[in-house]
Amino acid sequence: MIDKKAVLQALGPQAKRFSITVVPEVDSTQVVLRQSGKAPGDVVIAEVQTAGRGRMGRSFLSDEGGLYMSVLLCPKEKGFSGTAITAAAGVAVAEAITDLCGLTPEIKWVNDLQIGGKKLAGILAEGQISSDGDYQSVILGMGVNVNSSVQRLEQCLPGRATSLAVETGMPQSIEALAARVLLRLLDIGLLDTIVPDLWERYRSRLITLSQTVCVRGDPSGIRYRVLDIDRQFGLIVESPEGTRRTLYSGEVSVIAG
Ligand code: BTN
Repeated sequence: MIDKKAVLQALGPQAKRFSITVVPEVDSTQVVLRQSGKAPGDVVIAEVQTAGRGRMGRSFLSDEGGLYMSVLLCPKEKGFSGTAITAAAGVAVAEAITDLCGLTPEIKWVNDLQIGGKKLAGILAEGQISSDGDYQSVILGMGVNVNSSVQRLEQCLPGRATSLAVETGMPQSIEALAARVLLRLLDIGLLDTIVPDLWERYRSRLITLSQTVCVRGDPSGIRYRVLDIDRQFGLIVESPEGTRRTLYSGEVSVIAG
């Protein structure tokens, strides 16, 4: 069982910024928090999710041994886009993993954390937009493969996923990771005002730079060269004919390095 006391202890003086609920099994922590969340910093952590949700309507494998956590945010910074919130969360989770076990996850635009091309963690930001177009509240969901075995990953996601335990060769503490992620969310300003160096911190881990990609669901199948990201975390790409476009949502598949 995930030990809530251990999470609070690892949070230290910052524990007061969060209200944490740990549950053994739910359909999705996103759904639970949407129904029960009241204030920024409300957190739901589940040991197992029976209907874990991924981006773009996909499911997210959520059996025992992972961190499945949703956090309620009320972004104060006006006009802060969903892309920027997911980017900030990507940096927070990547930095938390580096803090905890010294690994250096890379970010595949916009929010997949990978090591050696295999997925380690995913992030889902679901927002409620107010009448002036800003985010009123956002439920930020993070799923990290912590102690999943190679056998289980290969069985469910052959060749596509890895875990902290696989990468470090030893089990890792889910409680310590949960606390590190929450501390990094605070540090990056997701509960207050986003730090000015977020863009650099995101870009330095972005593996998608300088790769050739296709846009998922684009019937033309055009292969774009990735040029850079803009200050809103949009991905700037160029077609073989030299036409440039900037993507703010959706997903890209990497074709080659
Ligand atoms: C993705 O990679 O497509 C995003 C995955 C997000 C998974 C997390 S686990 C905690 C929260 N609850 C969910 O149902 N999904 C998110």
